[in-house]
Amino acid sequence: MNPINKKGRVGVLLSGRGSNFEAIYRHSLEKDSNFEVAVVISDKKDARGLERAKEFGLHAFRVSPKKRKPKELYERKIVEILKEHKVDLVCLAGYMRIVGSELLNAFPGRIINIHPSLLPSFPGLHAHRQVLDHGVKVSGCTVHFVDDGVDTGPIIVQKAVPVNENDTEDTLGQRVLEQEHKIYSHAVTLFFEKKLKIVGRKVIISL
Ligand code: GRF
Repeated sequence: MNPINKKGRVGVLLSGRGSNFEAIYRHSLEKDSNFEVAVVISDKKDARGLERAKEFGLHAFRVSPKKRKPKELYERKIVEILKEHKVDLVCLAGYMRIVGSELLNAFPGRIINIHPSLLPSFPGLHAHRQVLDHGVKVSGCTVHFVDDGVDTGPIIVQKAVPVNENDTEDTLGQRVLEQEHKIYSHAVTLFFEKKLKIVGRKVIISL
């Protein structure tokens, strides 16, 4: 939170269901929350998260990557909307695109993502399938800063979730998702408390 007690402004990018967006939004409505959702942007016109954002009365936009090529043009439009809404922190919430240089350069150290595994294990698509195929006994979720790789940026917070013998992608995914909904808002809160410092590839969290 800044000195005059203004709430931090979050811009959410999503592509689908949007349950992490909803968790962030619901947290933002709590009395003591130090942030608010300023805008939601989807690359998919039928994303449920986009519909929900509209139902909540939030500023919500769809930006078509197909209509704006190359990628720089598409991202420039997103940056324009984020800046118009005075966004301080960009939260990727099931945003199914690799973030390019336009966005990264416009919000250095101010883009975060949630991934449904304990990174650096099992980055990329189908994390739960990777977890089950590999036979690991513990999975979880990770909130991290975004860099130019796929799920490679400095890790902010993680939560472990045990893998059960009879788990399917769905059952494991559901239990991990419950934890995602908690740790994402926690990470956003820490960011606006100015408690996160990136040092090399680590994030130091001050007390
Ligand atoms: C979540 O599992 C998140 O970790 C991953 O994509 C999924 C998005 O789910 N990046 P939702 O759209 O937030 O419900």
